Amino acid sequence: MSRTVTDPDGVRRYLITLTVNGDRHTVLVKANAVLTNVLRDQLDLTGTKKGCELGDCGSCTVLLDGKPVDSCMVLAVEADGREVTTIEGVAENGRLDAIQEAMVNYGAIQCGYCTPGMVLSAKALLARNPHPTEQEVREAIAGNLCRCTGYVHIVEAVLAASEGRPVPDDAAPVAEEGEAR
Ligand code: FES
Ligand code: FES
Repeated sequence: MSRTVTDPDGVRRYLITLTVNGDRHTVLVKANAVLTNVLRDQLDLTGTKKGCELGDCGSCTVLLDGKPVDSCMVLAVEADGREVTTIEGVAENGRLDAIQEAMVNYGAIQCGYCTPGMVLSAKALLARNPHPTEQEVREAIAGNLCRCTGYVHIVEAVLAASEGRPVPDDAAPVAEEGEAR
């Protein structure tokens, strides 16, 4: 349950608690603050990307209680008391998880802007359906737009991760990495 605090200038804010990637955070937010901005600006978790900010592109996808959501469409107060997973919480002990590794090895990353959201949508899919069909992968990532890849390598990477497939000999080269903020 959030507590309200009123600034000297009369703006009401809400004290909320989020568990993000396993860590509890208490943050003071305005009523209209969206989860994307709280993650990026108040918790410095900039792996969650901002694209359309209209719920159309999926670049801001995070898992809320294990389900993928467009964090630009979620008020931070709605996430009070809930579990959030961002891309920063996917790798474990400094090792990429199977989907991230497959995305790299199968050439599924070009500019990389869609990648955090894609990975989280794919993770939610494999958590509920460890061996999806190609069609099921395509449906699971339908809300994540990619302007670069044409989706073929992304779908291949998710299927490869689900099957524990090794890296192919003719794996596509990985695009040079750049930090998008
Ligand atoms: S930035 Fe959230 S859906 Fe596009
Ligand atoms: S790799 Fe550039 S938007 Fe998907």
